[in-house]
Amino acid sequence: MTVRDALVEAADALEQAGCPSPLVDAEWLLAHVLGVNRSELYTIEPELREGMIGRFGELVERRANREPLAYVLGEWGFRRLTLAVDPRVLIPRPETEAVVDRCLALIEGVKEPRVLDVGIGSGAIALALADERPDALVVGTDVSPDALEVAEENRVRAGVDGRVRFVLGDLLAGERGPFDLVVSNPPYVSAQELAGLEPELQREPCWALVGDGAHEAVARAAGGALARGGALVFEVGDGQAATVAELLERLGYDEVRVSLDLAGRDRIVDARRR
Ligand SMILES: C[S@@+](CC[C@H](N)C(=O)[O-])C[C@H]1O[C@@H](n2cnc3c(N)ncnc32)[C@H](O)[C@@H]1O
Repeated sequence: MTVRDALVEAADALEQAGCPSPLVDAEWLLAHVLGVNRSELYTIEPELREGMIGRFGELVERRANREPLAYVLGEWGFRRLTLAVDPRVLIPRPETEAVVDRCLALIEGVKEPRVLDVGIGSGAIALALADERPDALVVGTDVSPDALEVAEENRVRAGVDGRVRFVLGDLLAGERGPFDLVVSNPPYVSAQELAGLEPELQREPCWALVGDGAHEAVARAAGGALARGGALVFEVGDGQAATVAELLERLGYDEVRVSLDLAGRDRIVDARRR
């Protein structure tokens, strides 16, 4: 079987299963099996070996069962990092990359910034900040022991070693700071909303997605741990930015600002402690 035939057949199966980007998914999966980049797929040996066809077929079947592509691949790109991901953690999203941009801007003038990420999941935000600000000292918390295991694996992969520490626990997990930045992408989807979303989302850990009032809990807890002038940055759900911005003003934060993600939606709210 040639690369091209394998891709056409797989894309067909994925299309029938209702996957939104069947050919792109097929390319990702075949590139993964062959150990090449997607862009190299059409330039390598056209004939596939038997073992590879079998392995590719298994991955296509998992994807056709609407398992998220990132879980089937077992890893996912976030900023400059490739993170291990599996059903114990939320798959890092492109909008969260924009959250990291906003964090970097807010700590730009701070030397050796002390950073706290509440709800690390795979470790995406915490590790990207440590990677892109090599002088930062980063602490991350999560209530999920499973998430902490994945984040620890990613901490080693990212090569940021001693500058990043992950702690199991609720909200700040007893960390007192002072921090120059507290960032959080907490669970913010309602249970009713989740039921109407794509099947792939139902495969992600619901404790990472479903939540109500998490922004307020983090904002209240962060107030006592932020340095004067320190920044609080939140990712928020579609349509939540105005409410979260009002909340931060009500809690006494200064310089409340809403910014857009890469798709132009207002998904980031930040402020500074007085
Ligand atoms: C939406 S996921 C975000 C994961 C990661 N930060 C990212 O952006 O990809 C939310 C994470 O917050 C964790 N979490 C939920 N409630 C929490 C709490 N009260 N304290 C700390 N972590 C919490 C969940 O276990 C989950 O890993």
